[in-house]
Parts: sequence; structure tokens; C-alpha cells
Amino acid sequence: MARIFIISNRVAVPKAGVQPGGLEVVLKSTLKKHSCVWLGWSGKINDSPRTHTIKKGKNSYTILDLRPEDFDEYYNGFANRVLWPIFHYRIDLAEFSRRDLSGYLRVNEQFADELAKLLEPDDIVWVHDYHLIPLAQALQARGLNNQIGFFLHIPLPPPEILTAMPHHEKLIPALGAYDLVGFQTDGDAANFARYLAKELGTPSHMSMTLGSGDRAMRLGAFPVGIETRQFNRLASRAVRTNFVRKVVDSIPGKLIIGVDRLDYSKGIAQRMEGYERFLREHPEWTGKVTYLQITPKSRSQIKEYAEIEQAVSSAAGRINGAFSEAAWTPVRYVNRAYSRTALAGLYAASQVGLVTPVRDGMNLVAKEYVAAQNPDDPGVLILSRFAGAADEFRAALLVNPYDPDAVGAAIARAMAMPLEERKQRHAELYGALLRNDISDWGDRFLKALAVPEKGNAARQAALRDNLTAL
Ligand code: G6P
Repeated sequence: MARIFIISNRVAVPKAGVQPGGLEVVLKSTLKKHSCVWLGWSGKINDSPRTHTIKKGKNSYTILDLRPEDFDEYYNGFANRVLWPIFHYRIDLAEFSRRDLSGYLRVNEQFADELAKLLEPDDIVWVHDYHLIPLAQALQARGLNNQIGFFLHIPLPPPEILTAMPHHEKLIPALGAYDLVGFQTDGDAANFARYLAKELGTPSHMSMTLGSGDRAMRLGAFPVGIETRQFNRLASRAVRTNFVRKVVDSIPGKLIIGVDRLDYSKGIAQRMEGYERFLREHPEWTGKVTYLQITPKSRSQIKEYAEIEQAVSSAAGRINGAFSEAAWTPVRYVNRAYSRTALAGLYAASQVGLVTPVRDGMNLVAKEYVAAQNPDDPGVLILSRFAGAADEFRAALLVNPYDPDAVGAAIARAMAMPLEERKQRHAELYGALLRNDISDWGDRFLKALAVPEKGNAARQAALRDNLTAL
């Protein structure tokens, strides 16, 4: 039976008492159904890096430390100061340096070296996210021809933006070394196909042969979802906890919630402006609404992140300065992380979910907010049209996050929305969640990876035999 190798920058090593988050939730059913090896960074920075392996049931976790210069050049540097901003359509924030690019390539080589020690020929490799684009190429350069797929969790911009990245002509075509490249939305997949057509002259369709000899790369959209029913159950329990009750009791009137990592792609400062317009245009809500923005800090060593921190806290301060009254604070801005259970309860207790990234691959907060609602009295989701989730969530109040008047008007509409309309919208959104539950996501990707392609049919057929349990 083939093992599934999951490779990603961050690895969620299961720890007693720690709830699953992010990638772990997305990969949960894959980890449950298959024998998996998850390899990636340990989260530690070390002058003499070590690799160690932790076993847990039929799965194992191999984690590698990074040297300080690798952390700077690969993680802070090329991944988060070039790929992240450009893939989120922010060429203006990208800061390219050759040194960071070589650090990025070097860490990909290190990952390939570690993998080469562990891989058997019939193992299947599944690589996640922008940190590891050149990994398939690095493995093939070592003579490892395992079946290999890649999933990009963040957006992929159109070629007009992508080509602004120095050395894109080396990096982006390196995705051609994968058998299957998955994206969050059809739009991202089409952007990639258009890039290939424009830059490499490949025919613009969803299957093409790129790179060396007989390997054919395919691409497609595999939008990530959530465990809808489980999250709904979690939320209905969590809303009754003391923690949530205390929050609700401390708030006069209605609650609007936003939950985002502190990142410029999330549009938090713009969102605050939208809320400010709402307060100004609708004085009837004075003292009757609170906007709770939960924003754990992230990537704080990067200059742009320090700047956004400043911008968001000063926007919150400005609104509170202008509108607060002795017994009422319109914005509660909290820079700390809460457990999944606490967030589920807060989503369930909020009348409005405000999710307005200026660009986002998918956005699972939007999905969790909908899953957490009580169908008999649901809250309203206000969602940016630039989040991947907007493709499935046509029944949300879709807004342009760059237009504070529109965001303000959507808040006013959500606050006053009649129960019947709320129920109808929620039923449509919940239906969309159930149609794309995360429990099948891993299998869908792995099955697509196993489809035989002309030219490497024999290899694919051999691998398919190992996937019959899917
Ligand atoms: C996004 C990326 C993930 C990343 C996460 C947190 O969701 O797609 O790959 O792990 O942000 O960012 P961090 O830099 O803290 O890992």
C-alpha cells in the first residue's frame, strides 16, 4: 500500500490537548484514511539544525529545523516578501533579492534531500503551498519519479502580475514538474493556464505536457471546505460556554465579528473604514452595536506587517475616539489567538460576520461563520468578492472591500435584514458548504492525481493499484 507524503512548510504535529487548526483540519481525513508521512519545518531556528521524526499511529511526522539564514531568506524573504505579496496582487509590496531567492531554492533542496532518504518508488507525494514550488523539480533531479501533486492554498494572479516577479520564468514553469497542480478556484487555475499559454506557448487547456519527456501536468480547481456538520455541532455547544456568555453579556446590542491573521491581504484597515462610515451614516445604531475584531499577530519580523499593525490599531483608536461613549466602545480590537471552540461560539453569537479581504485564496473564516449559525435565527455574512469563497457563496452580501461606502451600507443592510431573508440566504450558503465538505477533498485530489495520462500510463496504472482504497 502506497504511503502519502504530505510536504508543507508548517507541520501540525498532534499534541495532547491541542485542537487542530488550518492545514491539519484540511488534511484530517487524508491523515485518518491513509498511512501518511508529513514532512516540513519544525518551527525552530537552529545554528546546528536537526531533523526528527515523531510517530503517531500509522502516521509519522518528520520535522526539520531551519538555520537562521534559511529562515530569513526562505521564509521571511522569498516566500513572504516576494511570493506572498505578488500572489495576492500586491506587486508594490514585493521586495526581491537574489540572496532570498537562493535561500528559497536551497531550502527546497534540503527538503528534497530529506525526502530522498524516506521515499519508496510507489509512495505518493503531495506538496502544499507557495513555500515549496520547486520541490518536484528538485526530487526529479535526484532521480525520484514518484507521482507528485501540488496544491496552492493562496491565489494565483494573472500573468500580467505574475510576470512582474523577477525570475518568474524559472519558478512558475517549475510547477510543470508536478503531475497535478491544484488551485482554490477556477479563476486561479485559468490564470495559470493563461500564464503558460502566454509565456511558454502551451495550448490553453487543462492538460498539457511540460518539461521533461513523458510527464504530463494537469491542473484544476479543488476549493477547500470545512467539516460543516462537526463545526455546527461544536458551535452550538460552544455558544453556551461561560466564555461566550461573558462576551455577549458585556456587549450592548448586536455583535459584528471579524477574525483574521494580521495581514495586509485581509483588508482590516479598509474594513474599519467601512464600519466608520456605517456608524456615521446610521446614528440610530449608536450604543447598540459592537464590532469585535480578533487579529493574532503574524510574520512580525517583516516590515509591511509592522506597518499594517500600526494602520489597524490607529484605525480602531480613531473610531473609538470619535464615537465611544462612557458606557459604549464601538470597536474591540484584540491581538490574540483564541481556540477553535471559542471562535465557533463567538461566530454563533454574532449577528454579522465581516469577512472582507482585499484578496484571499479561499477564506475559511467565512465558511466557519456560516457553519456556526443557528438555522432558525442565523447571522448574516458580509463577504469580499475577492475571497475565493465568494465563488461558492453567491448568497452572502458580496462587497467590494475597497469601497468603504459599500461596506458600510452592507453592514446597515445586514443589521436590519428580516428573519425570512436571513434564513433563506443561510440555507443557500449552508447547502453550498455541504456540497463541498472537506471530508472528500483529499480523496478528490488524490483520485485526480491517479488518473492516467498519455505517455506515462504504465507508471500511473501501477500507482493507481495502490490507491484502490480511496
Ligand atoms: C496562509 C498560508 C499558509 C500559512 C498560513 C499562516 O494560510 O496559505 O501556508 O501557513 O497562512 O502563515 P505562517 O507564515 O504563519 O505559516
